[in-house]
Amino acid sequence: MGERFYITTPIYYPSDNLHLGHAYTTVAADALARYYRQRGYETWFLTGTDEHGQRIERRAAEAGKTPKEFVDGIVAGIRELWRELHISCDDFIRTSEPRHEKVVQAIFTRLYEQGDIYKSEYVGWYCTPCETFWLESKLKEGRLCPDCGRPVELTREESYKFRLSKYEDQLLRYIEEHPDFIQPESRRNEMTNFIKQGLEDLAVTRTTVKWGIPVPFDPKHTIYVWLDALSNYISALGYGTEDDTLFRKFWPADVHLMGKEIVRFHAIIWPIILLALGLPLPKKVFGHGWLLYGKAGEKMSKSRGNVVDPRELIRRYGVDAVRYYLLREVPFGADGTYTEEQLILRTNVDLANDLGNLLSRTTQMINKFAGGRVPAPVPAVDDGILQAAVAEALAGMTAAMDRLEISDALASLWKAVARANKYIDEQAPWALARDPAQADRLATVLYNLAEAQRILAVALTPFLVETPEKIWDQLGLDPTGVRTQPWEEAVAWGGLPPGTAIRRGAPLFPRNPMPGSRRTGPAPAANR
Ligand code: ME8
Ligand code: MG
Repeated sequence: MGERFYITTPIYYPSDNLHLGHAYTTVAADALARYYRQRGYETWFLTGTDEHGQRIERRAAEAGKTPKEFVDGIVAGIRELWRELHISCDDFIRTSEPRHEKVVQAIFTRLYEQGDIYKSEYVGWYCTPCETFWLESKLKEGRLCPDCGRPVELTREESYKFRLSKYEDQLLRYIEEHPDFIQPESRRNEMTNFIKQGLEDLAVTRTTVKWGIPVPFDPKHTIYVWLDALSNYISALGYGTEDDTLFRKFWPADVHLMGKEIVRFHAIIWPIILLALGLPLPKKVFGHGWLLYGKAGEKMSKSRGNVVDPRELIRRYGVDAVRYYLLREVPFGADGTYTEEQLILRTNVDLANDLGNLLSRTTQMINKFAGGRVPAPVPAVDDGILQAAVAEALAGMTAAMDRLEISDALASLWKAVARANKYIDEQAPWALARDPAQADRLATVLYNLAEAQRILAVALTPFLVETPEKIWDQLGLDPTGVRTQPWEEAVAWGGLPPGTAIRRGAPLFPRNPMPGSRRTGPAPAANR
């Protein structure tokens, strides 16, 4: 079959330590990558860092370091954070790497030679934090950046420009013919309207920024950050180099995932670069919502000083509680406000109560009523209730994942968790155990409970990185199998061998106290 799946996150600015909002994009991409990998797709998951530009140059100067020294330290911290979150990326690209720089230079030269890039002059307003040029007409009252509201600077300089205008109609037609290309729907409409207003040619070089990739034939110019940054999605695959095996295998990307504020670059500039290069466009550009913080519901961002450190949350609640919260709390695509209370509530209710208790009750009953071994079910007395509930939950999960509705996918799995808890109450194994005539029924009920959880653990592997292993271990199975057994085989009902000796262990999730009068939640980093 040879089906393949290529997913990317944006490459992150290493101007500071990353916060929970950044982890949001990466954890979501990780869940999708793990899901496709598990479904047997040959999967490539790319992330990395976007290291050039004026902002980094200035921050480095302030820190008394060269830009490279400055970013090296931060990039090491980013890699460490992704390790702590178990981000399963197949590659991590840094735009300061030679493998990237030489591809960007080749792309620039080619676009220049075919007339899509030409020498010109740039006059306009530049927002340094956003690395974005603005037309006077687009600015907010008081000459402020329309995106972030901070002051912009007037710039006038020699600059190469990229003929976006030439590809307007071609791009509009593509968007119209491929309704899935830009998602969610609302972002697609925004983009179509934006293009219809007419695209200005884009300045793609600067002469005032040293920290960037030089134009090979005119090295006083460095290549403007977006042309540089966006190219990472193909430079990392070796596009245009002697070894372009990955490029030939994985391009076009199946999903470019990002926050909504940078959809414009991925849905307009990037496709036009690709059209100009004669390359196929990505299948989907998906803009998710923002993680907000505080009563005002502002986007969590370093510049607003309202960031939450994911490392702190991992230490406090564990990696799976943090991942679960990020993936489950907000419908994917919408904005959502982060509060520690809500994270605790999700952990206590969904993870500790629903999922954790189910396993704890099941293993306890198998110990008590079946001598610690999974009993053999008796088909004649099987009600089929959990088998049906699990099948339905998995069907709902896969359908939701195919639409990138990650939160719905988890909600679907939790329907089976709830059904299993209810099943215990309805079947009352403790009562069955008192009646020797119900021995077959008791064995079957206990088997069904254990088997349902074996399969649910498999279905949870894209989202959670420790819990599925713990569930299999407590069920007496080799925990590594939960992630390595092929999906179809792993989710087939009846896979748990009767007679397996269970290993009842600690609760999956401790219940956490709510932050009380004494402050226990993380203070905004700026105040620490
Ligand atoms: O934009 N909620 O990098 P970046 C949700 N280098 N997502 C958030 C968020 C929040 N509060 N804060 C940040 C860049 N993100 C460019 C990308 S790609 C060729 C170049 C997300 O470090 C943001 O939406 O500012 C984006 O998806 C990612 O973090 C990186 O943001
Ligand atoms: Mg940003």
